Amino acid sequence: MSGESQDSLVTYQIYWRSFSDSNGDGIGDIAGLVDRLDYVADLGVDAIWLNPMYPSPGADHGYDVSDYFDVDSDFGTLSEFRNLIKSCHSLNIKILMDVVPNHVSSSHPWFISALGEGIGNDYEKLFIIRDGKGELGSEPPNDWQSIFGGPAWSYFPTGEGQVQRWYLHMFDSEQPDLNWYENKVREHFEDVIRFWFDMDVDGFRIDVAHGLFKASGFPDMSTFDDDVSGCWDQPEVHEIYRRWRKIADSYDPPRLLIGEVYASSRERLLQYLGDDQLHSAFDFAFLKQEWSASVFSENISKNVDLCKKAGVPPTWAYSNHDEIRHWSRYASIPSATDRTIGELRYKSLFSLICALPGNIYLYNGEELGLPEADVPDSDRQDPAFFRQPPESEYKGRDGCRVPMPWSNNSKNAGFTTGVPWLPVPSDWVNYAADQQKIDPMSILSFYRRVLALRKENNWMNAGSIDDIFAEGDVLSLTRKFGDKKYKVLMNFGDSQHYKIEGEQVIFRSSEEEMHHNDLMPGELAYLFYNNN
Ligand code: NOJ
Ligand code: CA
Repeated sequence: MSGESQDSLVTYQIYWRSFSDSNGDGIGDIAGLVDRLDYVADLGVDAIWLNPMYPSPGADHGYDVSDYFDVDSDFGTLSEFRNLIKSCHSLNIKILMDVVPNHVSSSHPWFISALGEGIGNDYEKLFIIRDGKGELGSEPPNDWQSIFGGPAWSYFPTGEGQVQRWYLHMFDSEQPDLNWYENKVREHFEDVIRFWFDMDVDGFRIDVAHGLFKASGFPDMSTFDDDVSGCWDQPEVHEIYRRWRKIADSYDPPRLLIGEVYASSRERLLQYLGDDQLHSAFDFAFLKQEWSASVFSENISKNVDLCKKAGVPPTWAYSNHDEIRHWSRYASIPSATDRTIGELRYKSLFSLICALPGNIYLYNGEELGLPEADVPDSDRQDPAFFRQPPESEYKGRDGCRVPMPWSNNSKNAGFTTGVPWLPVPSDWVNYAADQQKIDPMSILSFYRRVLALRKENNWMNAGSIDDIFAEGDVLSLTRKFGDKKYKVLMNFGDSQHYKIEGEQVIFRSSEEEMHHNDLMPGELAYLFYNNN
């Protein structure tokens, strides 16, 4: 995959349950998404990534899959999905799916058979089942904790008078982990990716891509040097992606593989990337970084260096369906009491990401400037919320999954005519897409303008980074394309203005007069940088 377009895709992530509901059941669906495809195309993105839409009981909203070869009836039908692929392609939009190989739903036929077909049946081997510790196995096999909180083990049926057995679930108890040493599991997932590639799906985001294999001997977590490499990131996983990559490359055009890889270091992440494994991986340091010129500068250069070593394009995202929306992380903080600075910061962040080489992922709603919603506890749905210990302040991920506001004068801001699966805050009509579309000063209009600029200007989407550093609160990034150089300056400070000297300003995130040469708090500027 070396073509320029593949190396600089802007992908719009769609959390489909919350995107657009066509039939009033309160859950987004294919027909609703099809209604909004023009909106997606107008935004100017190259691809969409759909969170899992396979049949699922919904214990983790689609990340608990009970059938990998179909779509959930809440979402629509397989034939509607085929048409969705065609519609996307006719608009020149690629379609990426999510594949969930680390675990299945406890309602998947394999787990049901493992539970129901008698002690020692063949299906048990497909899961990770171990004897407990202590008297008659009454304690879990080791101290591993679920990512969502609480022990990562739950009871598994055991013969009369026998030692209690437990099955492993690194997430919710309704998401039993698979045993990837079994050929049946490997073959199944190869069939899964082929099935969707044959349907012209352009690629997969791989959920928990570093999972799959667990440390042999299941040592206690407390004995690990770090919290990742012990139960995750085992060497056997690479062989799986080498095989997947061969499958992806056997298609025309070759299909894409992007990993959700949590590795304990960038060196370990590197081992997943390259010509024979994944095309790219998210950089979670960039997604979780604090607001600081030096932190941003360091993370950008580390990710760029890593990707250079691996020979893959870097990938950038500020938000997704698991994290607090970045409006709330960066734009609505006490030091930016004035909404104007917050909004300027937000626009600058977008202008910055658009001037980085590689792939960008946008999370639906960020283009409307949506904040993290304050979901009442009684309405929360995320299993991570329910698995927290009582003293925890973590509320789970519902706040970033609240449905999209489409219209400023309809019930539920136009998302559904029924009862939305998560409540839409009443003031979200103020963010409605229909209003933002006609307001040139809106965040949506800004996103569209900057994405158009990125498309027209190869120095923004391709080329290389010549230099990046922070001086005090100012991030300075020099981009090189051909024999031309451009500079991106961003002011992370709250009060100080900086002088822009020497070079010609070609864009600024405030979109104020180009000739005044003050870089305001929160502002970003692109400069044409005459090299000679
Ligand atoms: C990562 C996904 O992004 C998250 O939403 C999910 O809960 C876990 N993987 C488990 O599949
Ligand atoms: Ca629906």
